[in-house]
Amino acid sequence: QTPKLHEVFGQHFRIGAAVNPRTLVSQRELLAQHFNSVTAENEMKFERLHPAEDRYTFEEADRLMEFAKANKMAVRGHTLVWHNQTSDWVFDNGSGGLVDRDTLLARMKAHIETVVGRYKGQIYAWDVVNEAVSDSVEEQLRPSKWLDIIGDDFIAKAFEYAHAADPDALLFYNDYNESVPAKREKIYALVKSLKENGVPIHGVGLQAHWNLTHPTLDDIRAAIDRYASLGLQLHITEMDVSVFAFEDRRTDLTAPTTEMMQLQEERYGEMFQLFREYSDVLTCVTFWGAADDFTWLDGFPVRGRKNWPLLFDTKHQPKGSYYKVISQPEEA
Ligand code: G3I
Repeated sequence: QTPKLHEVFGQHFRIGAAVNPRTLVSQRELLAQHFNSVTAENEMKFERLHPAEDRYTFEEADRLMEFAKANKMAVRGHTLVWHNQTSDWVFDNGSGGLVDRDTLLARMKAHIETVVGRYKGQIYAWDVVNEAVSDSVEEQLRPSKWLDIIGDDFIAKAFEYAHAADPDALLFYNDYNESVPAKREKIYALVKSLKENGVPIHGVGLQAHWNLTHPTLDDIRAAIDRYASLGLQLHITEMDVSVFAFEDRRTDLTAPTTEMMQLQEERYGEMFQLFREYSDVLTCVTFWGAADDFTWLDGFPVRGRKNWPLLFDTKHQPKGSYYKVISQPEEA
């Protein structure tokens, strides 16, 4: 019997996995054994929960909640306000144009009140706003209908509504490319100004979609240091380590090479060593999946290409990366 991840890391941080209706069945045992936090990969996103103004669809999300409860797992909610996977009706004024600011704020509020309210006391942390910061050097915030219609304060409003709906839930700003220096600073500036303005924000989520060469450990450390200096807690929210570097477009592999697996072990090893160092501020590490038989990276960004980014293989057996992660020495 291999050590359970969540027991190995019990004194440091929670260990989570993203799940979907399929893996909730096919990976049930693995999930229950190793993880003590779950996130819905898609099922709590706006378009899934709220396909029409007067219609909410909670069946899949509720099923996830039941699974978590039965297995005594915590739940991270993902995500309330995002430019992606949001139903079109939200921005539509009913006559072919866009809604006005007040209507959109009212719709955002209704959505957040209903969703956060439904799971009040059961979802301990929410990714309130996802990926609002731009990757481009020209602008601070990413162009989106939320931003265009409401203005910069759509972010603060989302946090206020979420806090009102569940005052005990931890509220996170979640983003990717958090380790790229320019974007790291933009996220820092955003979160700092939210805090200074008294907005109820409690943490920063680092998605951590990383690969064998990127980002460097120093850049990850710099991001953690920078966000932690704001007095917030950090969650690693969507971790995976792709076996392909950005420029690698190969499509011919049916299994990862030995070299890839060795590099992945080293990467996972050094990253978890770093996470342990920061476990006073870093309180959860969630993987974006549980085992290599199901990962969003299959087919992304190269169509038809398989990837092997997680700690367990396609048969749910622990990989070298798993052994590397659990075998680290405790710090003195
Ligand atoms: O469910 C439909 C299915 O009915 C339809 O036939 C099929 C045809 O394309 O699409 C299915 O929906 C797909 C959905 O995943 C479920 O598999 C969508 O096309 C696809 O776009 C969607 O991708 C998700 C992606 O977010 C969308 O942006 C991934 O599963 C999900 O892992 C990914 O997660 C995001 C985080 O939320 C935010 N951070 C980045 C991360 C990775 O992109």
